Amino acid sequence: MDVSPPNDDAQTKLWNGPAGRAWVDTQQALDQMFQPFEELLVEEVSVSSRGHVLDVGCGTGSTTLAIARRLAGQGRCTGIDISDPMIRAAWVRAEREHTPASFICANAQTHAFAPAGFDMIVSRFGVMFFDDPVRAFANLRRAASDDAELRFIAWRSAAENPFMTTAERAAAPLLPQLPARRPDAPGQFAFADRRRVQRILEEGGWAEIDVRQIDVACTLPEKELVPYLSRLGPVGLALHAADDRSRSQVIATVRAAFEPYVHADEVRFTAACWMVGARAPRAR
Ligand SMILES: C[S@@+](CC[C@H](N)C(=O)[O-])C[C@H]1O[C@@H](n2cnc3c(N)ncnc32)[C@H](O)[C@@H]1O
Repeated sequence: MDVSPPNDDAQTKLWNGPAGRAWVDTQQALDQMFQPFEELLVEEVSVSSRGHVLDVGCGTGSTTLAIARRLAGQGRCTGIDISDPMIRAAWVRAEREHTPASFICANAQTHAFAPAGFDMIVSRFGVMFFDDPVRAFANLRRAASDDAELRFIAWRSAAENPFMTTAERAAAPLLPQLPARRPDAPGQFAFADRRRVQRILEEGGWAEIDVRQIDVACTLPEKELVPYLSRLGPVGLALHAADDRSRSQVIATVRAAFEPYVHADEVRFTAACWMVGARAPRAR
C-alpha cells in the first residue's frame, strides 16, 4: 500500500478528518446515489482505453474498481486520493472483491507520478478541491502519455443544484456560523464556471477540451436521507461540533426541507453536472 503523507493544507485536513470519515461511513449510500456517474465513466473507458487508467480523487474506490473490472486483462486502474481513511477503505474493498486495482494516498496536485505512465485519466467529483488547479492539471498532464484522454465529472453551479444546498439553506437560521460558499474556491462547486474549467485545462497543457452539460437522475433510499444530511456537506461538518439539542433541532428542520425530494421510500433529484473531456497533446 502506497501511503505517503500528503501536505498539511485545509483540504488535506478536511478529507483526513470529519469529511473523509463521513464518506467512509456513508459509502454505500453515496455510491448508490452516484452510480449513474460511475456508469458514464466506465463507458468512456470502454470505448477509449486499454492501458493504465488513473482515477483522481478516487475516494473509497467504487469507480476505480468498476473500471478495473471492466478492463480486466486488457488494462489496469489506479486510484489516487489525499484521504488516508478513504484510501484504506478502498484497499479493503479491492481485497474483499478480489479486484486487482491499486491505490495511492497522496495529493494529485503535487504527487511525483512516473512521467507518461497513464493512458487515460478519469474522475468522479474528485478534481474540484485543488488549491492550484492549473498546477494540478499540469501535473496530471505530465503523468499522462501523449494522446491520453482526460474525462471527469464536476458539479455545475449551486443554483442549478438546489438539492445539494437544501441542508445549508434550511439550517442557516439555526447555524449562523455556516461558512458561505465562495465561487471558484476549492470545493464542490469550484468548477461551476465552464470558461474557468476551459482556462484551467488549457493552462495545464490539455487540448481538445470539451465541456458538456449533463443532467443526471439520482436516487437515495429514504432511510439514508438523515444519515446523509446530518454527516455530509457544510451542515454535516457543523453538526459534528453541535450539542445534542441543537443537533436534533437542525436535523428535524433540514429533514423537513428535503420533503419535496421524497417519493415514498426513495429520494430523487437531478444532478446538474459537466462531463469534461480533453486530450494530452503530443509533445513537439
Ligand atoms: C467528493 S469526493 C469524491 C470521491 C470519489 N471520486 C467518489 O465519487 O466517490 C472528493 C474526493 O477528492 C479527494 N481529494 C481532494 N483533494 C485531493 C487532492 N489534492 N488529491 C487527491 N485527492 C483529493 C477527497 O479526499 C475525496 O475523496
